[in-house]
Amino acid sequence: MRLHPLLVILALPLLAGCGGASATQPAPKTAEPAGGAHAHGGHHGHHGHHGHGGPLVHRFEKAEDWAKEFDDPARDAWQKPDEVVAALRLSPGMTVADLGAGTGYFEPHLARGVGPSGKVLALDVEADMVRYLRERAAKEKLDNVEARQVGLADPGLGQGTVDRVLIVDVWHHIDGRKDYAAKVRDGLKPGGLLVIVDFTMEATKGPPKEHRITPEAMIAELASAGLEAEVVPETLPDQYIVVAKKP
Ligand SMILES: C[S@@+](CC[C@H](N)C(=O)[O-])C[C@H]1O[C@@H](n2cnc3c(N)ncnc32)[C@H](O)[C@@H]1O
Repeated sequence: MRLHPLLVILALPLLAGCGGASATQPAPKTAEPAGGAHAHGGHHGHHGHHGHGGPLVHRFEKAEDWAKEFDDPARDAWQKPDEVVAALRLSPGMTVADLGAGTGYFEPHLARGVGPSGKVLALDVEADMVRYLRERAAKEKLDNVEARQVGLADPGLGQGTVDRVLIVDVWHHIDGRKDYAAKVRDGLKPGGLLVIVDFTMEATKGPPKEHRITPEAMIAELASAGLEAEVVPETLPDQYIVVAKKP
């Protein structure tokens, strides 16, 4: 079946909102991702995106469709998953939560990092992502990966139960980030780390600019939740990494 050209045009900014556009396919700087009704469906109880600095409310409903983008082998070149995972400082036996795990791009890396005695909690708000994560873990024999559906405003972590939390390309989608940060802090063990990766203001891929968050703003949000956060050195071309510690 041939795709209608209009559909193709509409789909591009939608992908761009999630970092899918490449340098050769610049992200259109529109305020509203195309496919608006689809992307901003009433399911979340929000009315599309908020104003400047507000979260990008977005649905990620059909996992197989997103897998083409999130697990595109070309992603490794700019996402640099080894570098991201190195920032987590994982050890065998740890419990790490991947918050907004999507289709599980990071799961093989995290599963290796914590080893068979450790645990990876692959958490997502979308039921179909969680279904996909379960099937993927079974298929790839990632026995230490457990997929769970979580609520939009609650990471669903037991009090003081996780050593590490990873949040990649998700922070800009979260509403009420200060409250959310406090819930992540509660889920961490003392001394535990939260690593957040998101797009720089200058990046040629990522969400529309009005939804991007500066590292300084992110650090302030995390500090308000009692987390000691800092930007760490990295070589990712389009993103920055913030590491936050629970004292
Ligand atoms: C752009 S994708 C990133 C997926 C994955 N982290 C990666 O790097 O491939 C964003 C994911 O976060 C999920 N998400 C958005 N808001 C969330 C929330 N409040 N809690 C948990 N997951 C959320 C979406 O359903 C989607 O799967």
